[in-house]
Amino acid sequence: MTNYKELQQKYEFDVFPKRDLCIVKGKGARLWDDEGNEYIDFASGISVANIGHSNEKVVEALINQAETLITCPGTFYNDKKALLLEKLVGLAPENLTKAYLSNSGTEAIESAIKFARFTTKKTDFISAMKGFHGRTLGALSATYKKEYREDFEPLVPGFSFVPYNNFEKLKEAVTEKTAGIILEPVQGEGGINIADKEYMQNVQKLCNENNIMFIVDEIQTAFCRTGKMFASEHFDLAPDMITVAKSIAGGIPMGAVLCSDTVAVPTGGKHGTTFGGNPLVCAASIAAIDFMVENDLCGQSVDKGNYFVGKLKQYELSKVREIRNLGLMVGIELKEKVQTLLVELMQNKIIALPAGTTVLRLLPPLVISYEDLDIVAGKLVELLK
Ligand SMILES: Cc1ncc(COP(=O)(O)O)c(C=O)c1O
Repeated sequence: MTNYKELQQKYEFDVFPKRDLCIVKGKGARLWDDEGNEYIDFASGISVANIGHSNEKVVEALINQAETLITCPGTFYNDKKALLLEKLVGLAPENLTKAYLSNSGTEAIESAIKFARFTTKKTDFISAMKGFHGRTLGALSATYKKEYREDFEPLVPGFSFVPYNNFEKLKEAVTEKTAGIILEPVQGEGGINIADKEYMQNVQKLCNENNIMFIVDEIQTAFCRTGKMFASEHFDLAPDMITVAKSIAGGIPMGAVLCSDTVAVPTGGKHGTTFGGNPLVCAASIAAIDFMVENDLCGQSVDKGNYFVGKLKQYELSKVREIRNLGLMVGIELKEKVQTLLVELMQNKIIALPAGTTVLRLLPPLVISYEDLDIVAGKLVELLK
């Protein structure tokens, strides 16, 4: 049998720290390795597989669209793109009336940065400590972690950081040059830190009063992950832009910036993409979003999140400092480093994620069964007591 791990190690220009597992198949909330071992997925490819792996509706849409039209430049109109845009905008907070389609999360953030500079004719951005917005140079400039940034400096000038959920500090950081404020409604990479409603509403008011674009980064939180189609709904927000990606197309690469009428459109080739919003990914995204709506995945996320966290909270877990969740976006902050627990879970055929050094991040597919939630809750209780 081919040793895929060795083969990949030989040829990959590998930027990722690897886990010792070769995943070859997925269905729903289950994954399989190359030796046929079965795992419960509590990562969803980092909130990508919200509708489950190899979702049948997405597979069917991809096959049909692949036989019809795969590529179409943005300089032409396209049926699937038109239908997806209508759907996306229809589900978004009411003030968001247009969408720009990209290929990834970081590219959505890059676009939002450009749109904010273009609209306000100002240069600077403020984002939050522990925030993560991507790894291309603009998005990286808004990303807090020093280790991600320092080898690639100088980054884009004009970016600064303030403590999350601290409105006074944010207000102090605003200058006449501030073009945009970029915030996650729940910090994913930063440790599942949930924003306060009052804070988010104050930020929005500050932006409205000072010609600053409020950019809500929902790349990890959108599409029912937190129990709403967009986490912004928890805070009654009407931001200038929402960036999305990850689960938007059932696992096929795609990103988007949802824009309000306050955002000016840079036409004439000032912005663009070859692959962004191609017919294949638009067809996948239509199927994925329809599946979310038809199966009330937002409701499922709330119910399953409450059920799962409720189970954990029944026990005295000596290794746990705090459990935080919004829907099925769950963080378990430990009193120790998370690495050992991740290995133990994997030995027990459960795949989970870290968020920083001490937080266990749990993002199962929203279609996960209650039986699987029970298995994982039981194992966590055993390991964390
Ligand atoms: C909140 C947030 N913003 C941006 C990104 C970057 O997205 P991508 O990896 O698709 O470039 C991520 C990815 O983890 C994210 O979680």
